[in-house]
Amino acid sequence: MALTFQRLHPHFAAEAGDIDLRRVSDRGMLEAIRAAMDAYRVLVFRAQQFSDQEQIAFARRFDGELHAKTGSAALGANRFGDEALTDISNVAADGNIMAREDRKRQYALGNRLWHTDASFQDPPGRYSMLHARVVPAVRADTEFADMCAAYDALDDAMRAGLEGLRVHHSITYSRQTLGFEFSPEEQALLKGAIHPLVRVNPRSGRRSLYLASHASRIIDWPVPEGRLLLRDLTEHATQPQFVYRHAWRVGDLVIWDNRATMHRGRPFDDARERRELRRVTTLDLDAPPAA
Ligand code: OGA
Ligand code: MN
Repeated sequence: MALTFQRLHPHFAAEAGDIDLRRVSDRGMLEAIRAAMDAYRVLVFRAQQFSDQEQIAFARRFDGELHAKTGSAALGANRFGDEALTDISNVAADGNIMAREDRKRQYALGNRLWHTDASFQDPPGRYSMLHARVVPAVRADTEFADMCAAYDALDDAMRAGLEGLRVHHSITYSRQTLGFEFSPEEQALLKGAIHPLVRVNPRSGRRSLYLASHASRIIDWPVPEGRLLLRDLTEHATQPQFVYRHAWRVGDLVIWDNRATMHRGRPFDDARERRELRRVTTLDLDAPPAA
């Protein structure tokens, strides 16, 4: 199987040629995918026939340890009984589409804010691998923003000013901006984490903005001023020229680098249209020390 990539956007994102990732296990091929992740940050693999276990096994082969401390795990166990397999769906444990008021649905709607996966944990997420199992007839897309191109587009003075800044990321913060309320017990499980505002890919040396709706404040700065800078940077980084919009087909596996992209789900009629995807995210174990 040869590995080919077709660019999907002027700055980032590419679609891989015909390849069955269930059969990819040799070091050379896995290394080639990793090199493509460094180059493109978002990769689309069509027509993957993963079972849950095959998806988990590929993620392990590709990048090692899996992230399991999801925000939703603090609200209750998922329907798969394995928190490394994140349920990105609008389906309840009984198999029906979630009721409008379902608390898990209200929580999951937060994925429509620009974010990176698991930036509210330490270690944070590195690669997320999202596999489409059931896709509605209506558009229910995911958008990705290229945080390398956004960083490169800042002027020299701004880039220099960001160097060394540290940011607190909290999922309770991002959900609370939507008015979602957590119990004290849930809040105790979700304390957040501190990460640099500028991330450097240790392999390519490429810098990127590390932002998310979870980013609540800049450490050592007054809160309003830090929040304003985070908002301005997010507005800059999510301009249309930095965004790729993915229209899902059943079988798509999209891998993104959480260190160098943000993403968000786009609205659709999720109280009627069934949509089921499964995500596995690896741990960014060589992330720079937080505090
Ligand atoms: C995710 C996510 C958005 C979507 O899987 O991490 O944020 O469109 N998904 O479902
Ligand atoms: Mn996400």
